[in-house]
Amino acid sequence: MQTITLQALNDFEEWRKAARGLLQAGIAPEDVEWRDPASDAGLFGGDGEPPSGKQPVGSVPPAFIELARTAIANSDPERFALLYRLLWRLQADRSILEVSSDPDVTRLVRLASAVRRDSHKMKAFVRFRSIRDDTGLERFAAWFEPEHYCLEMTAPFFARRFAGMIWAIVTPYASAFWDGESLAFGPGGQKSDVPEDDAVEADWKTYFSSIFNPARLKVAMMKSEMPVKYWRNLPEAELIAPLIRGAREAEQDMIERVASLPPSRHVRQKAREDIRPEAESEIVSLADARAAVQGCRRCPLYEHATQAVFGEGPEHAQVMFVGEQPGDQEDLAGKPFVGPAGKVLDAAVEKVGINRSRVYVTNAVKHFKFEPRGKRRIHQKPDGGEITACRFWLNLEIEFVKPKVIVALGATAAQSLLGRTATISKLRGAPITMDDGTTLYVTNHPSYLLRIPDREKQALERAKFEADLVLVRDAITALEARH
Ligand code: URA
Repeated sequence: MQTITLQALNDFEEWRKAARGLLQAGIAPEDVEWRDPASDAGLFGGDGEPPSGKQPVGSVPPAFIELARTAIANSDPERFALLYRLLWRLQADRSILEVSSDPDVTRLVRLASAVRRDSHKMKAFVRFRSIRDDTGLERFAAWFEPEHYCLEMTAPFFARRFAGMIWAIVTPYASAFWDGESLAFGPGGQKSDVPEDDAVEADWKTYFSSIFNPARLKVAMMKSEMPVKYWRNLPEAELIAPLIRGAREAEQDMIERVASLPPSRHVRQKAREDIRPEAESEIVSLADARAAVQGCRRCPLYEHATQAVFGEGPEHAQVMFVGEQPGDQEDLAGKPFVGPAGKVLDAAVEKVGINRSRVYVTNAVKHFKFEPRGKRRIHQKPDGGEITACRFWLNLEIEFVKPKVIVALGATAAQSLLGRTATISKLRGAPITMDDGTTLYVTNHPSYLLRIPDREKQALERAKFEADLVLVRDAITALEARH
């Protein structure tokens, strides 16, 4: 019997590496015992020699990888064995996933669905509590007890949604920390680690000051999802106490850094004050987001605009076009791309053969920014702070629509989507794979074409714009061929 002891409860890559070694050694599923930190023998069982061998390993269908990545977060102790059994069987028959009556396949699908449901519940029911420390810095924390190990897959959703806040989500098996810039995972905690209501509690302050320590986070990441109760059994455990003791200084450092944020960050700081996390965490659909955006106070642009202009198009469109911000006509109509730039876009989209009715169209910034000049309202480019503040809403659209391809129209959209300033000429013409696997194409904004006075130059730029859209069309065609 070969024993495999995994360090993490839900790390697909760790399992995959072990499973590959077993396959290469030709070890059958019934000869493997899988353990993880939650198993009784978890950390202390002997593994014996790691498997070795050179047997060829065949590729598996992407659908298996996708399901397995999710199912591995199920708390069913048999999940690793089930995945390995399926992997073993797929070596002989790549089509077994298509047999939905196969008991292993049914179980895999069931495990993955349960995890997705749990993740969805986390998105819907996490309630952040506000904690303001002596310096006035506000942070948020939430306690949640998922049925499965789904914090890691769900935390990026909160990072996108509450990008401007500093927050922690504590669960019994792991914690997630967002410092406004990066997401880190640490050990689990207890319900008492998080206050019941928006009060500053002494215990909580102690806990918080240590978990937000950068040094502690490093340790936490080293330990991965290992429950804290196991730490004492590890040789490195003696390092932890001194690190936590050093937490206060490092935290003070962090507070000072936040207090001296550059100007554009002040917009985020302001946005943070206005956030009502409870209300926002109740957004569980595109329709909720569409309604909530009208109350947005994340930056001052709402003050002069007629209304927020949210995206439009099929809820599960495969393609999303992202423009800059609504123009004068869009601001009045409450719909994106209905003015002159929209006409240019529609014509080009139709010319290259993209079905416009299957495209979701939106903007990086939802309120019209302008300068009044007489009776006219002159378009103003949104600044970095406004783009960042509004990324919250674009994230929600991406989260709910789940496009496979996104097209950034112009530098503002590209900046919002890439998180850095972007030069169109350097980025256009080739797909960019985003962190979540979405394919991004960058091209000019259609209104740029309208502003070119020289006829010849305009024709040339129009042709380049259409050539970019041809790439998008081909990507859509390839996607459709796969389904
Ligand atoms: N320009 C944009 O970027 N978006 C619109 O909706 C209209 C004009």
